[in-house]
Amino acid sequence: MRRLLVVGNWKLNGTLSSTKELLTGVLGGMSEVTAADVGVCPPYPYLLPAAELLQGSAVALGAQDVCDQDVGAFTGEVSAPMLVDVGCSLVIVGHSERRSIYGESDEFTAKKFAAAQRSGLTPILCVGETLDEREQGVTETVVARQLDAVVALAGMDALATAVIAYEPVWAIGTGKTASPEQAQDVHAFIRQRLAASNEAVASKVQILYGGSVKPGNAAELFAKPDIDGGLIGGASLKAEDFLGICSAVK
Ligand code: 13P
Repeated sequence: MRRLLVVGNWKLNGTLSSTKELLTGVLGGMSEVTAADVGVCPPYPYLLPAAELLQGSAVALGAQDVCDQDVGAFTGEVSAPMLVDVGCSLVIVGHSERRSIYGESDEFTAKKFAAAQRSGLTPILCVGETLDEREQGVTETVVARQLDAVVALAGMDALATAVIAYEPVWAIGTGKTASPEQAQDVHAFIRQRLAASNEAVASKVQILYGGSVKPGNAAELFAKPDIDGGLIGGASLKAEDFLGICSAVK
């Protein structure tokens, strides 16, 4: 039985004081969250203060991105060892905003995935199609290509210690959620594709859904057999909404 995981991706939002306020709010409601593991991914500068606040709590800390290299002359980058050093256990890789806005390829994403695992971080590998790709009927081709790049570099067994997040690009920040059936179809496709090479890994890996998840639609999504939680953007910026999603399933 896979446990639910709900992770907040705060993206480029907040200040030092709003970060502390939001975390205090989340921590205050954690006693109501019984059926899900919870994580938050604040912007880099707020990771260390967040780690201090979260110490001893059940809320895991994650980053939103990571360098593919561990050390050296890579101006502006933040490495996996640094993230571990400040208390992170999770890191998002291959978010569609990294892929589309910053031009990060499947292969580059795979290198980041491998870098995360080298340091013992759990990567949350994001995959998902654009609206155009969905309308062309190539959703499965796109998701398979994104997954295959990681398997090619890191190997199938690497997915045993990773999390996958299916985030249809057209549902991110748009208020348009994939229907639970649409999401389930792609989640099942991902699991079947992995099962074709390793059934044990496929049945164990958590596949999160991301894209306009809210307290009002989370329960229905999380009830689907292959949806193991969510990666939450906008709704993770309000403690009450985020907690509502985390406790959507009892
Ligand atoms: P929204 O929940 O704001 O649609 O964002 C989803 C997302 O991109 C999480 O990584």
